[in-house]
Amino acid sequence: MTPATDRVTTRRSVLLHLRPGRRSALALAVSVAAATALPLLAPPITARFVDDAIAGAGTRHLALIALGYLALAVAGQVARMFTGWLASRLAWDGTNRLRETLAEHALGLDMAYHGRHTPGEMIERVDGDVVAVAEFVVAFLLDVVAGVLLLAGVTVIVFTVDPRIGGFLLVYCVLIGFGMARAQRLAVPSAARGRAAGAALFGDLEERLAGMEDIRANGAGEHAVHRLYQASSAWYWANYRSGRIGVGLLAGTWVAFAAGTAIALGLAAWAQRSGAITVGTAVLLFQYTLMVRAPFERLIDQLRQYQAALAGITRIGGLLAERRTLPAPAVPRPLPDTGPLGLSLDGVGFAYPDDGEQVLSHVTISLAPGETLGLVGRTGSGKTSIARLVLRLYDPTEGAVRVGGVDLRDADPVSVRRRICAVTQDVQIFAAGVRDNLTLFRPPPDDRLLRAVLEDVGLGDWLAALPDGLDTVLGGVAGSGVSGSGVSAGEAQLLAFARAFLADPGLVVMDEASSRLDPATERRIEQSVDRLLTGRTGVLIAHRLSSLSRVDKIAVIDGGRVVEYGRREDLVADPGSRFARMLSMAGVSR
Ligand SMILES: Nc1ncnc2c1ncn2[C@@H]1O[C@H](COP(=O)(O)OP(=O)(O)OP(=O)(O)O)[C@@H](O)[C@H]1O
Ligand SMILES: [Mg+2]
Repeated sequence: MTPATDRVTTRRSVLLHLRPGRRSALALAVSVAAATALPLLAPPITARFVDDAIAGAGTRHLALIALGYLALAVAGQVARMFTGWLASRLAWDGTNRLRETLAEHALGLDMAYHGRHTPGEMIERVDGDVVAVAEFVVAFLLDVVAGVLLLAGVTVIVFTVDPRIGGFLLVYCVLIGFGMARAQRLAVPSAARGRAAGAALFGDLEERLAGMEDIRANGAGEHAVHRLYQASSAWYWANYRSGRIGVGLLAGTWVAFAAGTAIALGLAAWAQRSGAITVGTAVLLFQYTLMVRAPFERLIDQLRQYQAALAGITRIGGLLAERRTLPAPAVPRPLPDTGPLGLSLDGVGFAYPDDGEQVLSHVTISLAPGETLGLVGRTGSGKTSIARLVLRLYDPTEGAVRVGGVDLRDADPVSVRRRICAVTQDVQIFAAGVRDNLTLFRPPPDDRLLRAVLEDVGLGDWLAALPDGLDTVLGGVAGSGVSGSGVSAGEAQLLAFARAFLADPGLVVMDEASSRLDPATERRIEQSVDRLLTGRTGVLIAHRLSSLSRVDKIAVIDGGRVVEYGRREDLVADPGSRFARMLSMAGVSR
């Protein structure tokens, strides 16, 4: 497929979501036709009124005509309002379907994709672009379709009344239409730039807000404000340019319309003088000439929305065309359902998809079910990357990761999430009740179990101090400065352990928090680690070597390679081993 047909098919797939049902479409067509036809009937009534008045008709007769005119005007307005209501309902129904598909699709994309796109950008895509499309669909039906129909109707009627004036009106409409089509080409790129600048601004803003604590603590406020200034001024100028083009177009049409109206009025007066038409018909022609103005103005207005919507549809199509880089297995194999799971990494090599730099090479590690492994190494050596492969957030570029004897690439994703659990460096606390924070929004087990688990991890006193117990709403992100209901970094870690206990996995991956915790919390965490690893296979990434006193095996990672690997007791017993040297350097007893 060429890129052009590609774009057409993605646009079509987006538009398919918006298609209304057959009956709604029919109702819409009828109401658009009524909203267009009713106003067309008004000028003949005025013409009749003028001619009859000149001919000396009675007041009663004239009043009846006037009432007829009024009824027509009201009916026209009602038809227009109904069309507006129906169009927006159908457009929102359609775009909600689209939003659902998009949100689901975006949530299914891999970490690699989300690493490249900020949350703000995703929100702009799933919400901002979809809204632009919805607004355009409504406006398209109301202003563009109804406008074009009205123009056609006016031209036909004027033609039948006086072909010379009809001819003039036709030429005039074609000229204005042609001029607007040219102007549209000017407006296209500038509108797209405006929207892209907006998305960049929101992406930036989101990142700064999430990193508020770091920014404040490190005095990077000035830099952050300066970046905000740059992004907003880029947005301002992009919008200013597209706005200026829009205003220019509008001014141009005003002049063109004034000239056109004057000429039409002159022609009508001349035709009436020469006796070809009555005064009423001259008024009728004048009214029709005025009627073409409104649809043209609305069409111009729509040019900009059309650009935004088209750009939005293209970007939405782009997001929908984004494929997962972690392919789903053809025949998913479930991991063993109960008990600890063995883990093996065979000659694993890995590079993050976005930069392609080799982060891990030839990593070979194996754990029997129930065994525990401590991963140690300098910062940036690749420990967290190993953890991510074990959690299948990424696939290795070489070798294989097997859990419970199943290559993770062939494993059923649902059982992977159920049987492998992570306790990571940054714990996300959701703005929700304690219950939901523990079960991550799955149906909660009974409260006694929840309380017991919290007690076990050492959060019993914390729970007792909460105003509404398990119903207390926690909030914000630990460490982000967004205030929650009293969750410290240490408590967040303990909550993460409670989550893991409740999930009851067969393999636990722990990436120890490097933040400093008070000794009491540290001790509680160590106890929790011990208990969590009892009867489970575990991979423990530790910054404090003291936390590794009970693991079975140790792997020392350096520059993405395993530089030392063995049973902990053997490594400790060998004074020449790296691990033994690390222990004595850190002053940790063996
Ligand atoms: N999402 C990512 N995209 C690209 N490169 C990454 C990503 N995450 C980590 N890296 C790079 O991969 C290498 C290993 O990082 P990793 O986070 O695995 O180290 P680590 O041993 O866990 O470090 P730390 O002890 O500081 O947690 C580093 O060079 C890092 O810059
Ligand atoms: Mg790490």
